[in-house]
This record gives sequence, structure tokens and C-alpha cells, in this order.
Amino acid sequence: VSALPERSWAEIDSAAIRHNVRALKAWAGSSEIMPLVKADAYGHGMLPLAHWFEDSGCHWIGCASVHEGRALRDAGIRTPILLLSGFLPQELDEIHRLGLTLTLSSPEEARQAAATAKRRRRPLDVQVKIDTGMGRLGVAVPDAPALIRASWNSPHLTLTGVYSHYACADSDRAFTRRQWKAFQSVVSPAGIPRHICNSAGMFTLPESSGDIVRPGLAIYGICPQPRHQPLLRPALTWKSRVVAVKTVPKGTTLSYGATFTTPRPMRIAVVAVGYGDGLFRSLSNQGEVLCRGRRCRILGRVTMDQILIDLTRVPSTRKGDEVVLLGKQGREEILASAMAAKAGTVAYEIWCHITDRVKKIYI
Ligand SMILES: Cc1ncc(COP(=O)(O)O)c(C=O)c1O
Repeated sequence: VSALPERSWAEIDSAAIRHNVRALKAWAGSSEIMPLVKADAYGHGMLPLAHWFEDSGCHWIGCASVHEGRALRDAGIRTPILLLSGFLPQELDEIHRLGLTLTLSSPEEARQAAATAKRRRRPLDVQVKIDTGMGRLGVAVPDAPALIRASWNSPHLTLTGVYSHYACADSDRAFTRRQWKAFQSVVSPAGIPRHICNSAGMFTLPESSGDIVRPGLAIYGICPQPRHQPLLRPALTWKSRVVAVKTVPKGTTLSYGATFTTPRPMRIAVVAVGYGDGLFRSLSNQGEVLCRGRRCRILGRVTMDQILIDLTRVPSTRKGDEVVLLGKQGREEILASAMAAKAGTVAYEIWCHITDRVKKIYI
């Protein structure tokens, strides 16, 4: 059986990940790095990335669900795993069995966790989360000391951290400062790690880095502060191929809805990628791709399997040529954050949107 060429694929670069771990460690001083691998490692592939993080010397990993935690343990990840989202009582036995670290947001949750640990005759690792302004999970600041004390004093719980989460670190420094102050106002037992920083927090308020930082966006290579982007290397390059090239006369309408009409004779290419691969349809007549090292506009609507692009600047393009949707080609680069700005979303969603039809290749 001969190997078929891929039509839409993502190359994920371990050297970029190692670089980002090193760069963020250097940036955060003495803080430990807890990379987040939730949502399939932000679309990069949870299991290979978790192994890369473990091999890069990260002593913590963060995930969102017990399902993710189970997949990580089944794949042999031994590193402590913090379950960042809430839990359901029915999940406690499995959380305990897998040795995941539970996030506690209320005395009721602490009681349930302790009862499970007591019945199973082994303490459960927990971290207390404080709501300092995100309004999602976490105990209110005035109630935090009691919950920390209860977790610390319980013979069935092992308190391994106290943490909070920034809501606006990428947009509102004053708000972020207030969250940091509120977090600092809650005392925790000496030696218990404290953490609050996501990627944006690390750059907006580096003095709040604490014992651990929890980068997601930045560990995959996008910096929330554009001026620091050169510190990081995007790990994911998304590619496709030209499947047809043609010259069409002036006045030709392109793609569904005929939203683009050629103002002159134009050389265009059909590229084998569409919203079925996760390319945002909102990039219709907005997005760009790289072809032969130059930026080329997306013309007309993004369809399920194909897009049309403008070859005015690269008329010698041929069928089979590689096209870059995200990443570098020649001297040009398209960042997930730049694509997101054109698509009306955030880099996170650009990555999470990439579908299984896009083969992931780990380099
Ligand atoms: C609790 C928590 N910490 C850290 C992060 C990482 O955020 P970012 O990817 O912006 O660094 C997230 C992401 O949503 C989160 O929910």
C-alpha cells in the first residue's frame, strides 16, 4: 500500500515545547511550571504533550476532567495532576484511585472528599481554590481560611496547594492587581505552594508568579503580550495542499453565496482545507494563508473541505504545493492569535477547533 499525501495536517514540534518550557522557567524565576493539557492539550494532543512536559522536567500537570486524568494515568504519566475544574460526587472514587489532586471550593466538597478517602483508607491530595474575582470555582475570600484549615487538619486530606485564577490578566491590570491583593490576604500554612498565574498573569503581574505558574496559551507558544512574543515558539504548524490552480476572467464569482467577484482576471488556487478541518468559516474573505512564502488572501466563503486563495503574488504556484494556515513559511508567519483576530475569536478556540480529520504529526 503506498502512502497517500496528507491533505490537511498539523506538525507539532517538541523542540518548540522544550524551548517554551525553558523560556517560561527563565521568565518565572523560581516558580515551578504546571503546563495545562486540558482539551487535548489545547488541540495539540494531550498524551504526547504530557510526556514531553514530563520529560522537560515539569513537576505538575493540569487537566480539566477525570476522563482526561484517567487517560493521562493510563498512558503512564506519574507526575501530580491537578484537576482544575469541579467534580461530581460520583467521580470521587475514581479520582482517589487515579491519585489525582482535587480542587476544593467548599466545606461540603471537603467533607465528601474526606469521607471517600476515609472509606478507601488513604488520604486524598487536595488544593483549595479561592475565588478572587473569576466568579467560577473557588471559595469566597472571607471563607477561605476556614476551608484551608479544615483541609490542613483533616487526617484524610493532604493539602498540596492553595490557588486562585485571574479573570482579566490580558486586559485589566488594575483588576488583576485587586485579585492578587485578595489572594495575598489569605494566609496558608507555611510550605504549602500557592499559585494564581495563567499565561497572561505571568506577563502582566510577574511579581505574582508564586510557587507555581499555570501556563496554557504560552506553553504552546502564543504570548498574551505581543511584545514578548519573540520569547516563545508556536509549537503547532497547520498545513494543507493546493489541489487545483487556474486563471479566471474578470467578473467571476467565487464560492458559496458568490460573496467575492474577481475585479480583474485572477490566478487562484483551490486548497484542500475547510471548516470540516476546523478552519473558521468567519475567515471567509478575511483570512490569509502562506503559499510559496507569501501571504495570500482567502477569497469567498470557506467551505467544508476547500478554500480558494489569491495567487496574484505567487502565480507560479503548482498543484501539490504546501500551504501554511498556521505557522512559518519562508520569512512569513501566521500566529494563532493573528488568525483568531481575523476570525473574531481567541487563539485557544482556533486550536481547539481543529478537527480529527487533521492528522497530527509529532516531530
Ligand atoms: C484554572 C486555570 N489555570 C490556568 C489556565 C491557563 O490559562 P492560559 O491558557 O491563558 O495560560 C486555565 C485556562 O483556562 C485555567 O482554567
